[in-house]
Amino acid sequence: MKEKVVIVTGGSSGMGKAMAIKFAKEGAFVVITGRTLERLEEAKKEIEQVNGQILCYQMDVRDPDNVHNMVRTTKDTFGKIDFLINNAAGNFLCPAEELSNNGWHAVIDIVLNGTWYCSQAVGKEWIASNQKGSILNIVATYAWTSGAGVIHSACAKAGVLAMTRTLAVEWGSKYGISANAIAPGPIENTGGFDRLIPSSSEAYQQKINSIPARRFGQPEEVANLAYFLLSPQSDYINGECITIDGGQWLNRK
Ligand code: HXC
Repeated sequence: MKEKVVIVTGGSSGMGKAMAIKFAKEGAFVVITGRTLERLEEAKKEIEQVNGQILCYQMDVRDPDNVHNMVRTTKDTFGKIDFLINNAAGNFLCPAEELSNNGWHAVIDIVLNGTWYCSQAVGKEWIASNQKGSILNIVATYAWTSGAGVIHSACAKAGVLAMTRTLAVEWGSKYGISANAIAPGPIENTGGFDRLIPSSSEAYQQKINSIPARRFGQPEEVANLAYFLLSPQSDYINGECITIDGGQWLNRK
């Protein structure tokens, strides 16, 4: 992973930050993006302790011009891009019948459109410079199992899964670009976890009981999987989605 360049969207907290730290530890140059400059700066300080080569870029994945400029800046700073991790997400619990159009659009825009803007911008850069690269998308098991209160996110993540497989085939055949996905279950110390399963809620204990591993996942475990999926050891894996949830989705009643 030495001197590989990896972009992690939503890289200032939770799983994004854990992935950035893991790649930095292994010698990669890391670009983290996020909407809040202060949070990016804080994460940068933490990541710099393991590797000084880090760029933080304030942007909203919903803005294609922002995304384009981030890709340009990464190229100008490091000379190339090797990996894109589409981790930025937006989510909140809301009954489907109560969800407003703006609420629907906010989540679809961040998760589905944002992933597309980043993937296309980086992909075009790889194609133009005749370079191979790899995309890793973060989805969720409820993209195929369903989940009450997350219709916007479930539909967006299902779209991202379809995007992963389509790009794996289309760009894989033409340009040697690969695309894979990770579907995390409940991962502690992340924005999604705090929003969907507050520790005070009844759902908290029920969730633990539903997981064969009898515990929640940790961001570092997702980071280790991301590292494997972008390392040469997994070169022959393309268009795949790996679930990391302690066996939870198989155990649904
Ligand atoms: C109902 C809500 C709402 C809620 C927002 N909205 N929160 N509706 N219940 N709890 C509605 C608002 O009322 C508004 O609609 C519309 O959504 C847009 O809200 P804004 O706050 O203006 O949008 P914005 O500032 O762009 O924020 C986007 C967001 C927010 C998605 C709404 O939650 C956010 O920024 N989240 C980023 C962090 C995050 O969610 N991380 C978790 C991702 S984890 P109206 O009609 O009022 O104008 C994940 C995977 C989890 O996704 C997997 C776990 C297993």
